[in-house]
Order: sequence, then structure tokens, then C-alpha cells
Amino acid sequence: MGPVQQQRVTGAGRPLIRLTWTDPVTGADGFLVVHLLVSGLATGGTRMRAGCTMAEVEDLARGMAAKTAVFDLPVGGAKGGIDFDPKDPRAIGVLTRFCEAMRPWLDAHWVTAEDLGVPQHLIDEVFARIGLQQSYHAAIRRSLDPEATLRRVHAGLNAPADGGLLGDVIGGYGVAQACLATANTWAWEVAATTVAIQGVGTMGGAAAWYLHEAGMRVVAVADAAGTLYDPAGLDVPALLELRDAFGEIDRSRVPSGVTQLPREAVLSAPVDILVPAAISYAITADNCAAVSARVVVEAANTATTAEAEALLRARDVPVVPDFVANAGAAAWAWWLLLGQVGADPEDSFLRLRTEMRTKVALLLERWVIDGVPPRHTGWELAEARRAALAGGGPEQPVVIP
Ligand SMILES: NC(=O)c1ccc[n+]([C@@H]2O[C@H](COP(=O)([O-])OP(=O)(O)OC[C@H]3O[C@@H](n4cnc5c(N)ncnc54)[C@H](O)[C@@H]3O)[C@@H](O)[C@H]2O)c1
Repeated sequence: MGPVQQQRVTGAGRPLIRLTWTDPVTGADGFLVVHLLVSGLATGGTRMRAGCTMAEVEDLARGMAAKTAVFDLPVGGAKGGIDFDPKDPRAIGVLTRFCEAMRPWLDAHWVTAEDLGVPQHLIDEVFARIGLQQSYHAAIRRSLDPEATLRRVHAGLNAPADGGLLGDVIGGYGVAQACLATANTWAWEVAATTVAIQGVGTMGGAAAWYLHEAGMRVVAVADAAGTLYDPAGLDVPALLELRDAFGEIDRSRVPSGVTQLPREAVLSAPVDILVPAAISYAITADNCAAVSARVVVEAANTATTAEAEALLRARDVPVVPDFVANAGAAAWAWWLLLGQVGADPEDSFLRLRTEMRTKVALLLERWVIDGVPPRHTGWELAEARRAALAGGGPEQPVVIP
């Protein structure tokens, strides 16, 4: 599939809106890209990392438009990004000023949420500070009963589930389901299947937790400080207990049987499934030869460059794309907003498990039978769903109960 077809799949090739903002206090740059509006709404998280660029945010916004299409959500795709170190004590001030500057969008059109370097509780704190209550504000204010919707959203996000609060773990739960569907495609026994995960924050941590719970052997995890490896399988819940607020594991308390390796080592761990769940562009043409996994399941957005994916394909290694594998968080937020799930985690887990396993099975089946890369099948799916929605006549405003 050539670039023209790729563009078509996620709507227009170029984004609808690109905004650049410069923080008057620190000089940090921030970006908003709205790739596509549907019924006047677009959804996508806000990330903060030193070195974040407009090009990265554009890629992420395009990916969001694909996610919402694949999961039949009545909303377009957008993304925010700030080029600033989230560990800097001035970070919350930068995020607050960014949200103030983006207020017209956040008030009426852009539903944002957590992303790399910005946990959900932090963005909600900032929204409360600027009088917008909650990061889903643009959708909540359109609902028929905004107060009831806000209560439902709070109850869902804060519902206790195995592994943490539902709002924090649901995205990683979806990634774990994508991995389990992958194992199922080749009839790999779950207990004999090994996995390595780059990043143990919101997404990687929850994916590790649910894979461990399902009995899969998590043999390597990495955070920004390095890789932890145990071929017999890591004690995931114990390691996750040692994380700080930035998803870094306290090395002074890591069990002695665990080998500590450089950060990049996670990519070459000898495993069946590699889950990049941290930075964008983690797997590149330069490092993909080191990947020894049989399948890559993308929890991080734009985790694999196009060149790296082509090289992996030539080695018969499929990549389950971000806009399917990690879409659980975005899809669930909209199921919650639309009142299709509530505060009972079992309803949310069942819905996501069913949808994720079906979609990943479809993508990998085409790879196995026809050699079609899962990303291409995902794009086709996104295009078909978006066309079906558009084919229903003039755009109808989304009704949020
Ligand atoms: N949080 C969400 O709801 C959500 C949803 C969909 C996709 N994603 C994507 O998942 C990825 C991770 O997001 P998150 O919210 O879990 O972030 P996070 O900030 O909660 O955690 C990031 C983790 O990655 C680690 N890390 C950072 N740089 C690293 C490096 N160079 N090598 C190894 N590990 C490194 C950190 O130490 C931490 O463990 C991002 O690409 C994000 O866009 C997040």
C-alpha cells in the first residue's frame, strides 16, 4: 500500500488545524493538532516530554483519527504535546498555561486525557484549576445532563479494579488482550509465551499486570533508567509496587535474582512478543535488527517507524498497530461518556476484551493467510468504518446521555 492510500484511510492527509504555543514563562513550546473533527469533536491525550515536536503530535493526531474510526466512535482525532521535562517542578505551571491558551478548543471541541508524562489525575487537577472541571469537558458540556455525565465519568475513572483504578488500567488491559489474541492466533500456550515490555507507566504497567495475571511470562521490563530481566519471569506486581510517580522502579529494592541491563536491552530480549509502551519511534531502522520477538504489539503511539516496520515484515515479524492495540483507553472513555459502560469494571473489561480480541484476530488472520501487514488491514477497517458513518447522510450531532 502506497502513501496515498495511507493518507486516505485516516481522512484527509493533512490535519485540519495545527497550533503552536510558546510559554511566556519558560519558553517551552506546546502544540495542538486536530486531524479530524466529527460532529465538531475530536479526542486525544496531551503528552509532555523534552524534545516533543509538531511532527510527532501530527503523527499522533492522525493515529487518534484512525483509533476512533476502527472502534466506531462518533468523534475525530486530535493530540496535544508540550516540549518540556515532566519532572521539572515548573511542569504543572506549563501544563496549566498550555490548557489556558487552548481553552477555546478544550471548552468546545477537544476532549483530552492523559498521555506520556501527563497522568490523568494531573490533567484533571489542571482542568479543575482553570474552571473546566474534567479533561472530557468538551463532551460533558454537550451532554443532555452534564452533571450526571460528570458523575458517571468520575465514578468510572475512579472505580477500583484489579491492578488499580479502572481509568488508569483500562488501556493496558486492552494491550494485554491484544497480546493474548496474538498468542491465540498461533495457538501458543499462554504460560509458555514470553513477553518484554518497554515502559511500565500507565500503559506498560497495566499491560504487564494483566499479562502476568493471565499467566504469560513477563521476562523483561524497561523504564527510563534501564531494563530488568529474568528469563524465569519477573514478579510483576512486586516490581510495580516499587514505581514512583513517573513510572520508574526503585533499583535499590529490585530482587537480587533480577538482571539489570541497559535501557535498549529490552528491545532485543529473546521473547515471543515485544510491547513498546513508552516513547514514540522506539523501534527504528537502526535498532530493529536487534528485535528478536516474533510479533510486536504497539502500546506506545507511533512506536515503530515505517522503515523499521518494513524491515520487520521482511523478517516475517508482524506489528499489531498502535491504533488498534492501544485504543482501549480512548474507546473506553467514549463508552463511558456515552453511558455504554459504568463503574462496574467487569462490564468494561468484557466489552474491551471482546472488541480487542476480535479486531486483533482479524488483523493477524490476514497476515497469516495473505501476508497483509496488520497495519494495512487496520487502515482498511478505519476507512470502511469512517465511510459507513459518513454514508449515513449529513453529520448528526453526537447525543451524550
Ligand atoms: N496513558 C494512556 O491513556 C495512553 C493511551 C494510549 C496510548 N498511550 C501511549 O503509551 C505510551 C506510554 O504512555 P503512558 O501514559 O504509559 O506514559 P507514562 O508517562 O505513564 O509512562 C512512561 C513509561 O516509559 C518509561 N520510559 C520513558 N522513556 C523511556 C525509554 N527511553 N526507554 C524505556 N522506558 C522509558 C518511563 O520510565 C515510564 O515507565 C505513549 O506512547 C502514549 O502515547 C498512552
